[in-house]
Amino acid sequence: MDYRVSPGGQFSGRLRVAGDKSISHRSVMLGALADGVTHVTGLLEGEDVLCTLAAFRAMGVQAMGPEQGRLTIQGVGLHGLRPPAQPLDMGNSGTAMRLMSGILAGQNFDSVLIGDESLSKRPMKRVSEPLGLMGARIDTNEGGRPPLRVKGGQPLHGIEYKMPMASAQVKSALLLAGLYADGETVVTEPAPTRDHTERMLRGFGYAVNTDGATIRLRGGGQLIACDIDVPADISSATFFLVGAAIAPGSELVLEHVGMNPTRVGVINILKLMGADLSMENAREVGGEPVADLRIRGSQLKGIRIPEDQVPLAIDEFPALFIAAACATGETVLTGAHELRVKESDRIAVMATGLKRLGIDAQETSDGMVIHGGRLQGGDVDSHGDHRIAMSFAIAALAASGPITIHDCRNVATSFPEFPELARTAGLKLEVVES
Ligand code: S3P
Repeated sequence: MDYRVSPGGQFSGRLRVAGDKSISHRSVMLGALADGVTHVTGLLEGEDVLCTLAAFRAMGVQAMGPEQGRLTIQGVGLHGLRPPAQPLDMGNSGTAMRLMSGILAGQNFDSVLIGDESLSKRPMKRVSEPLGLMGARIDTNEGGRPPLRVKGGQPLHGIEYKMPMASAQVKSALLLAGLYADGETVVTEPAPTRDHTERMLRGFGYAVNTDGATIRLRGGGQLIACDIDVPADISSATFFLVGAAIAPGSELVLEHVGMNPTRVGVINILKLMGADLSMENAREVGGEPVADLRIRGSQLKGIRIPEDQVPLAIDEFPALFIAAACATGETVLTGAHELRVKESDRIAVMATGLKRLGIDAQETSDGMVIHGGRLQGGDVDSHGDHRIAMSFAIAALAASGPITIHDCRNVATSFPEFPELARTAGLKLEVVES
């Protein structure tokens, strides 16, 4: 599936983007493992989250929905899952595979986690090794790649683990395994990463202690069902924020966006670039801060991106590279090696695409140097990466010719309504079968 996007236009109006992917995954997981019935609203009905839900259904969890973002989950308790008859297919989702590995490590049955072509190339040693230190037995393919074969019935014990990389997925896998471990599980992160797991565990009545960069919990407790209102995903909102920022005359309000401090790197970076961006109606919903964001088109300027913002904006760089391409001067990103192991190598794929659109973009080992200029029309390949596809789609707002993006099917993993919402806001986007 390709996107063909005609150049020019503006973004305007008010809209609410799809539910937060990270929070949606976690609401299904904790809802399934809780005692009692959990009601979720605002759930992202993207393929990634549906994989997580299907996995729990395959392990005997009953759930009604999702329908219009509503899902009711009959929790089975921490020890109520049943052996799945088949391998659990995590599709395109690194979050699903890594967090599930932590949960499955604590079960008394064997299981296998598989994924699509992209996920099958992604590194899993980052979870299998520390889970192994806790007593889990997880075999991987060569080089630590999926499938993951998880041996059941292994007693787990708490460990103290200093994470070598800033990864919320690794942290979450260990905390979830820690629910099943003897004693205390202690995880220290090298830089702050999204803390939705810690917040939601507390929401389900589980004691989690955060002291600076160190998070602790004790195994053997219980999760108590609760209601969850999932905010709109700041990572999906980003395509609209950047689109409006680069298209003169735009004015857009994005409603009910999750503003968790561990996710707001994109706001901080866009502001440093001179974006006309303000927050309205800030409030808290179910333990997560939420606000409406108003953004107007303005001339952006190139910046050196502060490295402390990188983990806080890790999923937003494909779109931020488009902002940099439209800014005056040079934008320099460093300290973002993790971008090379996302759904695609986002440094290589974005640099290639930007060059095809006439922008001077130079890859470095852990980032990119982009000289702002005028985007031209052309053909780019998303390499099946949802965020790359959406980033080049909104680039057309500031391009001098049409942009065709190949291999856009995976937008459905995180933001199925993107084409429709983008058109409503003013993007001249056509979806064509390739
Ligand atoms: C996620 C964590 C991040 C992010 C991913 C979702 C999560 O990955 O890139 O899209 O929900 O925990 P890492 O923790 O590997 O950086």
